[in-house]
Amino acid sequence: MARKSVESFLGKFICGDCEEVMRKIPDSSIDLVVTSPPYADKRDYGSADGTIPPDEYVKWFMPKAKQIHRILKDDGSFVLNISDKVVDNFQHLYVFELLMNLCKKTGFHLVRDYIWYNPATPPNVYSRGGYGRTKKSHEYCFWLAKGETWKFNMDPIRKPYSRDMQKYLQGKGKGDRNQNTRPSTHNFDCEKTWTNNGGSDPGSVIEIANTSSNDYFIKLCKEQQIAHPARFPEKLAEFFILSGSNEGDIVLDPFSGSGTTAASAQRNHRHWMHRYKPRLLQTGNFTIRTRTNRAGRGR
Ligand SMILES: C[S@@+](CC[C@H](N)C(=O)[O-])C[C@H]1O[C@@H](n2cnc3c(N)ncnc32)[C@H](O)[C@@H]1O
Repeated sequence: MARKSVESFLGKFICGDCEEVMRKIPDSSIDLVVTSPPYADKRDYGSADGTIPPDEYVKWFMPKAKQIHRILKDDGSFVLNISDKVVDNFQHLYVFELLMNLCKKTGFHLVRDYIWYNPATPPNVYSRGGYGRTKKSHEYCFWLAKGETWKFNMDPIRKPYSRDMQKYLQGKGKGDRNQNTRPSTHNFDCEKTWTNNGGSDPGSVIEIANTSSNDYFIKLCKEQQIAHPARFPEKLAEFFILSGSNEGDIVLDPFSGSGTTAASAQRNHRHWMHRYKPRLLQTGNFTIRTRTNRAGRGR
């Protein structure tokens, strides 16, 4: 298969099957992949794949994973946003089976399993309590590294210190700086004194309400009477773009849908490239399809 230069893909939405298109991308050329493929048995996006049964999901995804692994740079990362479903009264294990395969067969290393908690998850059949479980209000975001090292920036994703901690850092309030005792009464390693890093480690639960009814994209969709049914919030993509790549890096979303990852990459001065299925041509990508970007411009 003839491979094109990576530059020829930058800043473009490419219409097609992501596996086929990725085959044309050179080896070790992408810094970060952030993506959310169709979940098993979910929506039919009108592609030849239709909906993917849970039992066949791993088989469906693995050739795509192989391409993602090949095109990532040695210090590149792959962030996979995915969720599972209940089948025959129990939660199906395809997500975990896929994760095992990505690590054991494709050669990815699991850096961190993140939980995206959506406090705005609406009540559903489980909320009546009759099925022996609650509704599921989170999805997974698996951060996988291609190699032994990967990029990671903590500063852009730090969360603001608690009010007690802010006071403590000013030498006031609860806690004792001389004893290295935090406001929570936990003791720090006594060799260290606590420094102000501008915010705390956000941890592995990312809380973002998926309520986008008033954003610019939805406004455009309403005007055109179109919409993408399964977008993730731009803040979710941003969390991984800011922490897993640097300005000027190349971010790819092979299942780009409405282009949320591209929007975040553009806003955060990264190059981007996205794949989407032909049917989505009708659903809203028209506004940005032919726009090319250069990192640092066009905000
Ligand atoms: C869960 S949605 C992604 C939504 C996206 N994160 C957003 O915020 O808009 C999955 C997308 O993958 C697309 N898709 C499904 N199979 C595909 C394939 N083989 N190649 C490329 N895109 C595909 C679907 O059309 C759908 O738009």
